Amino acid sequence: MTQKIILITGGTGYIGSHAVVAFEQAGYQTVTIDNLSNSSLDAFDGVEKILGYRPIFRQGDIRDWDFLKGVFFEFAFDGVIHFAGLKAVGESCKKPILYHNNNVGGSIELFRIMEEYGVRHIVFSSSATVYHPDNQSPLTEDMRLGTTNPYGTTKLVIEKILEDLARDAQWSVISLRYFNPIGAHPSGYIGEIPSGIPNNLLPYIMDVAIGKRDKVLVFGDDYDTRDGTGVRDYIDVCDLVDAHISAYEYHDSGYTPINIGTGIWVSVLEMIELVQSAIDQTISYEITSRRSGDIAECYANVSLAKKLLWWTATRTIKDSIMNGWNFVSNR
Ligand SMILES: NC(=O)c1ccc[n+]([C@@H]2O[C@H](COP(=O)([O-])OP(=O)(O)OC[C@H]3O[C@@H](n4cnc5c(N)ncnc54)[C@H](O)[C@@H]3O)[C@@H](O)[C@H]2O)c1
Repeated sequence: MTQKIILITGGTGYIGSHAVVAFEQAGYQTVTIDNLSNSSLDAFDGVEKILGYRPIFRQGDIRDWDFLKGVFFEFAFDGVIHFAGLKAVGESCKKPILYHNNNVGGSIELFRIMEEYGVRHIVFSSSATVYHPDNQSPLTEDMRLGTTNPYGTTKLVIEKILEDLARDAQWSVISLRYFNPIGAHPSGYIGEIPSGIPNNLLPYIMDVAIGKRDKVLVFGDDYDTRDGTGVRDYIDVCDLVDAHISAYEYHDSGYTPINIGTGIWVSVLEMIELVQSAIDQTISYEITSRRSGDIAECYANVSLAKKLLWWTATRTIKDSIMNGWNFVSNR
């Protein structure tokens, strides 16, 4: 059987690099494109160490039509896994045009070239941020959508474009709505490398653990949750990329959004405690006031992923912490 070739956009990024490894190990040939705006080829060096060979990489921007045309001319893609995008919520509030131009504009160019070359099979990286903040967790895919920041809006707009495209039955589209990806590859060669102040909790705690920052700022302890701090659903990055393989192999025409989380909720203070006991080190923290836009609870109902994709998370939160720590301390 001929090996299927898939395009991975944003494949030198945090989740994309894990996906390149997982798809290659599952027997696909991957072609990664990335403009390296939020990553470097170090990630691909790590991928090469894990696989024992270097997968195909082409540097370029998904907004660059000539670049896309060259790549689609060079390879006969079976489908696309679309990670490329900017992801910092705070930055998106300051630079909404950049976010719309990069994420929405780039995705439109990508879908346009896919249509031109008859490649109509795609898995898109969406996010739980597309859910309206008034919904009560556990969140299900049919709940009300609505966003509170430009980053989330770009994800929702791209979902809507894909939904429109998939009215044509030749398209097979899955939007995976990630909850909070954490952890790293067990090899320690690839993981999350935040640029500047980490947006996500675990990298922030790790920064404190390695002495890069003094303390974790806990935004609010007066939410209506077990201990008053916000609760989230943390999904291991290796489980997350396995979900992409299942989603890619789930062939159905039309548009399907699917939650990818664990359905388990962990508070900020619980996460700090879990890291402390996993790495046997005290983590300093300070409770401060709530951050605008944050909600008390956000966790997934994952029944649809189980039902359609036969996928469920298998790694424990301790696995994710230990792998994340292994990666950070190796660096
Ligand atoms: N990490 C999370 O917490 C999280 C949660 C939900 C959804 N997502 C989404 O998952 C995807 C991957 O996230 P990640 O954490 O790996 O982010 P990341 O920043 O590590 O990876 C994204 C990659 O896309 C590249 N990129 C950005 N714009 C590009 C463009 N115009 N052309 C080509 N390459 C471009 C960046 O250089 C980067 O390597 C993103 O779309 C993100 O919005 C991430």
